[in-house]
Amino acid sequence: MNDAPSTQIIEPFRIKVVEPLPFTTRAQRAEFLALAHHNVFLLRGSQVTMDLLTDSGTGAMSAAQWGAMMTGDETYAGSESFFELQRVVQDLTGMPFVIPTHQGRAAEHILFAAAGVQGRMVLANNHFDTTRANVEYLSGQAIDLVIAQGRDPQSEHPFKGNIDLEQLEAHLKQHGASVLMVLLTVTNNAGGGQPVSLENIRGAAALARAYGVPIFLDAARFAENAWMIKQREPGQSARTAREIASEMFGLVDGMVMSCKKDGLVNIGGLLCLRDPQLAERARTLLILTEGFPTYGGLAGRDLAALAVGLTEVTDEDYLRYRIASVAYLFRALDKIGMPLMRPAGGHAVYIDARKLYPHIKPHQLPGIALVNELYLEAGVRGVEVGTLMFGRAGAGEAPDPSAPLDLVRLAFPRRTYTQSHVDWLIDVLASVHARRAQACGYKILHQAEVLRAFTAHLAPLAHPGTPGDAHVFPGK
Ligand code: F0G
Repeated sequence: MNDAPSTQIIEPFRIKVVEPLPFTTRAQRAEFLALAHHNVFLLRGSQVTMDLLTDSGTGAMSAAQWGAMMTGDETYAGSESFFELQRVVQDLTGMPFVIPTHQGRAAEHILFAAAGVQGRMVLANNHFDTTRANVEYLSGQAIDLVIAQGRDPQSEHPFKGNIDLEQLEAHLKQHGASVLMVLLTVTNNAGGGQPVSLENIRGAAALARAYGVPIFLDAARFAENAWMIKQREPGQSARTAREIASEMFGLVDGMVMSCKKDGLVNIGGLLCLRDPQLAERARTLLILTEGFPTYGGLAGRDLAALAVGLTEVTDEDYLRYRIASVAYLFRALDKIGMPLMRPAGGHAVYIDARKLYPHIKPHQLPGIALVNELYLEAGVRGVEVGTLMFGRAGAGEAPDPSAPLDLVRLAFPRRTYTQSHVDWLIDVLASVHARRAQACGYKILHQAEVLRAFTAHLAPLAHPGTPGDAHVFPGK
């Protein structure tokens, strides 16, 4: 930690490689959005000035990581870069079996297939969408048991990612052998990037053990979770984030990880296990679908960059800046009255679009309205986490069944944007907030059967104050 006479938290890096931002005019953005069928997933990178769609695989690597890439070992079987990664991961997690995959969802698929999820249940705080989809695709049942406060955007509970231990025990008691595993997503992405406490992990692990069921972590954002434990959990402030992370891993039987988040790399995943038989089955599937066990769908240079990333991510100067920069945006938006998912999470700020736009009914997609306003205003891309993402297609004329919440996530790529970018973003959001009464809803023109949010074609509706129901196409 810096002891300079300032309370400012500065980016703990200087910039060695830069990439220009694409700047556009409102008229251009209106045209790009119309060409993208009013769905920001269908925009091109060159049309987006500040991309907050996801924090996955979008961060900047360090000079040490780029250096390691040059010396990555591309040996097919027995790559030295694998052995270095294995050493780093074993050191951090204490788990003996380290299986690389190309990204998180591949690790999930292999774990659930190798463990035999068919006809069985996974009990989680919240499954991330790909995790749920992998359980269900393999004919298992994905059950979410997050605490009640985790579903309430207003609750200030410091660990809204916690699993409800009473409900967990009730399910373990009732379903016994048909429970395949307990899975804790740290931090809880589907629930606002909220952390899970060490006490809760310990409690869930003790219950799982008592009922003879293994417990796993979805560790995509383990370091952010560990830092928030250090900040928020009584008795943890004197420990390092790395010690806390190691205890988190020490409490469980295995983990899946999308390394595109806290691995600080652009591609990569991990499956880590303690059970040798499960590891053998997983490696057999790995060879079938990803590649030989010492590269698992990655190049040697990717393994090398990941080994460095997993070491850098628990650096406390980095974590302090990372969590502080999300909290900085949160506080500024709170001040202008933007309705937010509280408290500030780890990787993103989530705006409650249904509350911001009470004149737009959930089936008219208030989250999409906000995402599109934000794009039109300044070329900022966020993502709707609401009725388009989670609702299911209604039949005929029936209104589209809505999701429990209509949120917009502004996710921060790691080490990519600076405080002046965030200050600019605050101005943009203040302007969108000031004009909230003028925003219009959207209707769905075309949608896929599953995961419709990625490809849907949408059209803006007339503002409720406008006579007639003609569609208004901004910029046309
Ligand atoms: N688990 C969590 C908690 C995630 O957030 C993600 C991805 C995955 C698993 C899947 O990993 O993408 O490497 O296959 N989340 C990204 C996001 C896509 O935008 O939140 P993957």
